[in-house]
Amino acid sequence: MSRPTIVTMPGDGIGNQVLPEALRVLKAVGFEADYVHADIGWEFWVTEGNALPDRTLDLLAKHKLGLFGAITSKPKKEADAELRPELRGKDYSYFSPIVGMRQRFNLDICIRPCVSFPGNPLNFIRKKPGGGFEEPQVNVVVFRQNTEGLYCGVEWTNPPAPVRDALATHPKFKPFKNVKGEDLAVSVRVITRPAAERICRAAFDYARKFGYKSVTICEKPNVLRETSGMMEEVARQVAKNYAGIPLWSTNIDAQTMWLTKNPEEYGIVVASNLFGDVISDAFAGLVGGLGFAASGNIGDEVAVFEPTHGSAPKYADLNPPIVNPIAMILAAAMLLDHVGEGDKANRVRAVIAEVVREGKVRTYDMMRIAGGARSISQGAASTTQLTDAILAKLATVRIPEAASAAR
Ligand code: NAI
Ligand code: MG
Repeated sequence: MSRPTIVTMPGDGIGNQVLPEALRVLKAVGFEADYVHADIGWEFWVTEGNALPDRTLDLLAKHKLGLFGAITSKPKKEADAELRPELRGKDYSYFSPIVGMRQRFNLDICIRPCVSFPGNPLNFIRKKPGGGFEEPQVNVVVFRQNTEGLYCGVEWTNPPAPVRDALATHPKFKPFKNVKGEDLAVSVRVITRPAAERICRAAFDYARKFGYKSVTICEKPNVLRETSGMMEEVARQVAKNYAGIPLWSTNIDAQTMWLTKNPEEYGIVVASNLFGDVISDAFAGLVGGLGFAASGNIGDEVAVFEPTHGSAPKYADLNPPIVNPIAMILAAAMLLDHVGEGDKANRVRAVIAEVVREGKVRTYDMMRIAGGARSISQGAASTTQLTDAILAKLATVRIPEAASAAR
């Protein structure tokens, strides 16, 4: 691949603190790239009525690769109240820029690795029957369909008459027939076979490429017979092309319960939009939570990588910054994987694993203390210090062949 240009979108709040740390790591690991800043987030909603300006979309369309920090979003009334006076009453309405990006570029494959770094004090531990505790090694990668399902945006409060009429043709709508319009809210769950096939194929390809022993389709086909039913049926068909990788099937509710029982049993988990969102947060909670959770939003042409956390406004103005940069750095490592720089990505992950295992440099979350300016005087590392520790190891430590196992 020729030298790539990465569109950097720090966004709001701590997005501005963690994204520069990821760039330091990319540089230190020897990734040859150019970077171009792009505007996104609350400031642009307030001043332009658009949190995702066209110039940002143009840069993404041109360069195809993005690193995104985080954005702030607020409920409708607050959003409208903060809009510049001259923009009010002109039909501007706030729209999530992340959802906008996913839809504009059809970033329909969302990959969310949930992999525990041994020694992380935030890892899930389990009581052993005979006494004592054990720390299961969780290595799950969630494949979440990113553009359809319950998040497709087809919804109404007080649906218009043709929608109500259409709904009334379904026998199961009878109990709701006489509900007053303003008392009736409807969200449509759309699943299409081609998109279901794409996410299932992406999940199996990844399992084969990285040696995961199973793919689990996590839905609810016994109740959501049509939509989850189609996801499951497609998963079964796709699985036929991947001999040696069994397809397991779980229901989202039961999966959430089993999660803490035997999380190490699972490998790749594939799910529709809402269920994928839920189950990836649930698995992320077992491996360190928001400071460790990263994701990739991948389309045919464009891919954008981001930490799962938001803009954490309460910490955004602290100097030095205190939040954990690891999630953002892991997002950058996913970008490296995506552009065929897997060795560099593995090096970054191996070094993070080493820093976490040593436990000498920890941000407040890893110390299980309250966040805030005081955390530094209590011994927590700042955002920059944690990155410094990662850079120091990148410079000096030889990465063992086992690095690839750190995925
Ligand atoms: P949040 O993820 O910003 O923060 C929740 C809490 O998690 C923080 O207060 C902090 O205690 C902890 N936390 C988050 N990131 C951390 C890190 N890197 N290191 C250590 N601790 C960390 O979620 P919250 O407070 O619900 O939302 C704040 C704003 O962010 C809202 O406006 C929300 O809409 C937006 N948001 C944006 C997302 C995105 O850009 N992808 C995702 C989630 C929320
Ligand atoms: Mg979420």
